Amino acid sequence: MPPATVSSERPRRTDDTPGAGTRADGRDTRPVSELLTDPVLRDRTVATLRAAGCVFAEDEAALLLGEAESAGALATMVARRVAGDPLEQIVGWAEFRGLRVVVEPGVFVPRQRTGFLAGLAVAATRAGGIVVDMCCGAGAVGMAVMAQSRAAEVHAADVDPAAVACAQRNLPCVHLGDLYAALPADLRGRVDVVVANAPYVPTDAVATMPPEARLHEPMVALDGGADGLDVARRVVAGAPEWLVPGGVLLVETSTKQAPALREWFVHNGFVATVEADDEIGGTAVRGTFTPGGRPG
Ligand SMILES: C[S@@+](CC[C@H](N)C(=O)[O-])C[C@H]1O[C@@H](n2cnc3c(N)ncnc32)[C@H](O)[C@@H]1O
Repeated sequence: MPPATVSSERPRRTDDTPGAGTRADGRDTRPVSELLTDPVLRDRTVATLRAAGCVFAEDEAALLLGEAESAGALATMVARRVAGDPLEQIVGWAEFRGLRVVVEPGVFVPRQRTGFLAGLAVAATRAGGIVVDMCCGAGAVGMAVMAQSRAAEVHAADVDPAAVACAQRNLPCVHLGDLYAALPADLRGRVDVVVANAPYVPTDAVATMPPEARLHEPMVALDGGADGLDVARRVVAGAPEWLVPGGVLLVETSTKQAPALREWFVHNGFVATVEADDEIGGTAVRGTFTPGGRPG
């Protein structure tokens, strides 16, 4: 367990006696408003984070100082960050398309590049439409669709109970289960948009991921099988049963995987294109479900 006090982090004070912000047991009891403006504590936090290899130490220190409710809480947060926990799991939220998404420990941290996928989903959603955020994790994509489109219903689903519990703090309709088996049966054939950021890292590449992901995010959120497309292929193959004719399927992928995934969309009755945004680093295949072979 990380230390609960700030003995090594505690700033030098001119008056360091109990009653002047420090208890006899060494705990810093100053109010958080005082901590935030203490340049010594800020500089020490930056130095500790920098020494641990945090590239954006200044920004991270500012965030941790802003989020900590006490000096003890700050020390715990810094210790977790030094140990390699993702910043978002420590503070308990991630920024995503201007929204604050609750992120719990052990749940995949929404990536900024997935904002591209979410933007495609927002654009594809008609007023009153029904949207499914498949493989929802914390539910960031579904949240963006709820907040930024005129969807009537947004359902989210994930196989990981920890992800579902977290997403339920962000979204009203979250279902637990393996892909479409999680969804209420009455959605069959009525969904306008299925959007999925399923795991797509090839099994062999998982070992090369940064420890932050490898050690603190569940394998079920990362490992996409031999070529990374195992779950994505199942998402595509299952979608026609749930989409309205002309409905849209959006799946995040990598630049390298995109052509093969697009072919799989076509094989399953979609007219499909590869969409990419180099600035944000996002790639997705977008398909329109066209039973009979013509765009709906
Ligand atoms: C890469 S994470 C993405 C999470 C979220 N969509 C996001 O972008 O932040 C993939 C998610 O897919 C979920 N997942 C993996 N296999 C699944 C399956 N068979 N059925 C449902 N969810 C699955 C994982 O639990 C994980 O939350």
